[in-house]
Parts: sequence; structure tokens; C-alpha cells
Amino acid sequence: MKLGELMGEKIRLDKLLSNMGKGSRSEMKDALRFGGVKVNGVTVRTGKEKVDPEKDEILYKGIQVVYVKHVYLILNKPDGYISATEDKFHKTVLELISSDFDHYELFPVGRLDIDTEGLLIITNDGELAHNLLAPKKHVPKTYRAIINGPLGDLAIKQFEEGISLDDGYKCKPAELEIISTSKSESEVKLTIHEGKFHQVKRMFEAIDLKVTYLQRIKMNGLSLPDDLPVGEFRPLTEEEFVALTQGIDL
Ligand code: URA
Repeated sequence: MKLGELMGEKIRLDKLLSNMGKGSRSEMKDALRFGGVKVNGVTVRTGKEKVDPEKDEILYKGIQVVYVKHVYLILNKPDGYISATEDKFHKTVLELISSDFDHYELFPVGRLDIDTEGLLIITNDGELAHNLLAPKKHVPKTYRAIINGPLGDLAIKQFEEGISLDDGYKCKPAELEIISTSKSESEVKLTIHEGKFHQVKRMFEAIDLKVTYLQRIKMNGLSLPDDLPVGEFRPLTEEEFVALTQGIDL
């Protein structure tokens, strides 16, 4: 799998053009009828024609169409948005993605709680999502959290040995790093290798503490970039894509 992967299969010409944001299928029908589309130098007037975007040269109004099948975006999710494609009551993370991407069927890779901030991948690549989320893959995810009380070596050991959640599930070993701690508040980094519902919050609840702020800062080898403001997104670079999929730190 490559960033900007091209189709290795044939696709209807009108579908390809409209998937690439040139307009609706019916607008494509008109553009074709009026001679606006050439395939390998020949004007094609019907959208039914199948083309191979890897091999065929397609010109739309004289400009070459490059077919990109998959899109990979990194979003710095803000508080107040839910990790879903649509919702009746709340704003969704897809509302933060510009309409330039409307013609891709994007979805968030996994879920962050409505009040959790930080790194969220938005894509239309189901295989990538599966590879990052399948429990068998144990992809590490690191969170920065503020906790409402003191933490010490005992907590580090408890997380290392596997915290038992309220439903009896024993978590896999997790790495807890204490950045600062006082009687009333601690700042930590926590790396987990699974993704149970509200997992980080429930892990701290299991030791009678509460998460007051949660931010995902890393997924596999990919860290949340320092220069990506909360609420903003951008396409992954090639290096970031490798870090995310291969687990190689940048
Ligand atoms: N764990 C949580 O409790 N919430 C999140 O959003 C992610 C991990």
C-alpha cells in the first residue's frame, strides 16, 4: 500500500471524473457530450467507457486527471466533536475537513471521546483502518493526560502488570510515564496497546483517580506534529505515512 495509491483496475470514466471532484455524474455526462474529455488523445463522449487510471492518460478540459484512490489526513481533534461521520446532536470530526475532500468517503480511524483532543487519522482506506485497529495488531497509542491526584512508582507497576477495569477485563501491560506529580494533580504519558471503550479514563478510575484532560499524542510511529493547531488537519507526508503504518518513529 502506498500513499496516493493508484487503482490497478478499470473504472467507469464518469465515476473517475466525479470521484476526483470534477463535478456530479450528470455534469460529467454533459462535459463528455461536449467533447471536454480525452482518453489517450481521443475524445470520448460516453461515461460508460472504462479506463485504467494507472495506464490511460485522461484529460479533463485539457488538464491531466490524476486518480488518487486513498486519502490520509491527520487531524488535531478539538474538544466537542465526536469521532463519527454523522450525528444528529453533535458536531462530527468530518465537519473540520474542508469540502475539497467531499467526494471521498472519509471516516475517522477509531474513536476519541467527545472531550478527548489530539491525533486522529481520517481516511477512506478501510484496510489501513483495520491494520491500525484490529486487536491482534497491538498498535501502540500514547496519550498525555492530566489526573486529579498524586501518582508514583506503585501506579507505574500497576499499569505494567495490567490494570483490571470495572467490568473485570484485565488490560494488557501499559507504560505509564509520570511527567509531574503533586498532591492535587499529575501529568502523565500513557502508552496502551489496545483500544477498549474509554480505556484510559477507566484505567485511572480503577486506581480511584480521574482523568481531567486527555490528548492522544502518538499512534504507532506517528506523533502529533507540534505545528498542527487544534482543530486543523492536513494530508500525511510520505514519512508520516510510513511512521503510522510501519511503526517506525520519525
Ligand atoms: N481512552 C479514553 O478513555 N478516551 C479516549 O478518547 C481514548 C482513549
